Amino acid sequence: MKKLGLIIYSHKILEPMPHKPNPTQTAAWKKLTQHFDETKHITLQRLFEEDPNRFEHFSACFEQILLDYSKNHITQKTLDLFFEFAKQMNLKANIEDMFAGKTINETEKRAVLHTALRNSTQREIVVDGKNIVPEIKAVLRQMEAFSNAVISGKWKGYTNKRIKDVVNIGIGGSDLGPVMATEALKHYKSAKINTHFVSNVDATHLVETLKNLNPETTLFLIASKTFTTQETMTNAQSARHWLVDYAKNDLCVKKHFVAISTNTAEVEKFGIDTQNMFQFWDWVGGRYSLWSAIGLSICCSVGYKNFKDLLKGAQAMDKHFRTQKMTHNLPIILAVIGVWYTSFFQHETEAILPYDQYLHRFAAYLQQANMESNGKSIDKNGNKINYQTGPIIWGEPGTNGQHAFYQLIHQGTKTIPADFLAPAISQNPIGEHHQILLANFFAQTEALMKGKNQQTVVDELTKKQLTQAEIDFLTPFKVFEGNRPTNSILYKQLTPRTLGSLIALYEHKIFVQGVLWNVFSFDQWGVELGKQLANNILPELFDDQPISSHDSSTNGLINAYKQMRKP
Ligand code: F6P
Repeated sequence: MKKLGLIIYSHKILEPMPHKPNPTQTAAWKKLTQHFDETKHITLQRLFEEDPNRFEHFSACFEQILLDYSKNHITQKTLDLFFEFAKQMNLKANIEDMFAGKTINETEKRAVLHTALRNSTQREIVVDGKNIVPEIKAVLRQMEAFSNAVISGKWKGYTNKRIKDVVNIGIGGSDLGPVMATEALKHYKSAKINTHFVSNVDATHLVETLKNLNPETTLFLIASKTFTTQETMTNAQSARHWLVDYAKNDLCVKKHFVAISTNTAEVEKFGIDTQNMFQFWDWVGGRYSLWSAIGLSICCSVGYKNFKDLLKGAQAMDKHFRTQKMTHNLPIILAVIGVWYTSFFQHETEAILPYDQYLHRFAAYLQQANMESNGKSIDKNGNKINYQTGPIIWGEPGTNGQHAFYQLIHQGTKTIPADFLAPAISQNPIGEHHQILLANFFAQTEALMKGKNQQTVVDELTKKQLTQAEIDFLTPFKVFEGNRPTNSILYKQLTPRTLGSLIALYEHKIFVQGVLWNVFSFDQWGVELGKQLANNILPELFDDQPISSHDSSTNGLINAYKQMRKP
């Protein structure tokens, strides 16, 4: 429907879904399969020998971020075929549909507009006949006023003391993004406020967090899109008891609890004053919500200006993603390389290895972003998929990982494509730390690509004056095959803007992969079954009667649990 020159989409009307192309049936996929068969044995070493300028040919910049993707099993032909494939999967139209607010989350009948949250232009974005931009701006103003009041000490607790500790209670997307960003931007943290995060329903998380906090100076942000999530509501109730037991007065809740949610009715039911509620909308997916009011903990930690810079960095990446041609488009390049490894090479995991301690929660954050989005085996047409989709994401900061799991990356039987990330400038430049850190970053990607051949090992052992028998014995263990692919992402410094761009880079990579795999990236039905069964089991755990309603393993475990708890 066209109205006043704007495209109006309704995401409440369920129209028959047009058939989406099956990736494996496209001409480009078939060409990629053939290209894979022809090139899969070519080593990275050989690619570098054949093209000594691979870095120039396979690297790209965005603002102060450099992506070097030359150490991958790709040639220009690989990329060209992938760009053709992306066209055949209508990538461009899919991107436009997302930015325009079309109902691309079809199974939940929702638009997907986290990009609107960081859109500082005056451009109208219409959902269900309504321009959503004024509401977004109003919530941002509310966040600004609130975080300023908390940091400045204007917001007082019930005994008129300023707030010193902010505790975000949330889980999944209402936790991982805010924790990751708050940790990443610790350098920018206000000295006045300490931010804490409680997510796990294991009471230990809440108890250990609150142990040293003073109820009079603690503020809880209850972050939950639905405001029905069991873990968050249980933690929120216990936090409420902690406060009220101390204050001996229910009225204190108003000054110490705020809610961030789409569900006003549930917020009211909990007893939080809706004046202290920060709205967001069903077109913001949980794992894409750090840009919304869910980012309030980030604001309270680093101040609103830095939060705005985070949004600006993401917005700049949005523009790049939407307008840059595929050959220079960082999210698209990362996405196609990932599909190459997952669906053609059949590599099952991807490691995220930040050589930046501030990014120590980045891999955990990307686990949800990526695995909850593309961990799917039914395509958009409702058919079972017969190709590999979303990879397993994992990782730890370097150099710690080097002393833990890099052995397997270097010499194991699996190939693990890895993203290395590092800042050129440290926020904490003492001694030679940063040079040592970066020397390790560069050395690892070089070692993974080049390896060490048998002759080099023999020469080294000979120089050490080992016997021939010792050399023969040791050599196979000391050979590194190399040929292990990596991306390197080098950025000038981890500023709020750069962090915003990096997060959006990965968000869009995931989006592109969802389009290429023909899966719905913005629903998460796979988390429901466990929740349902937990609710069935919960009432069975409150007495010591043996149960027999499940399979023998589940019965056995529950009954053993009951036995163990007997005095
Ligand atoms: O269980 C998965 C999930 O639905 C995530 O997608 C979401 O981020 C998380 O739970 C938390 O949901 P809510 O913000 O509604 O509490």
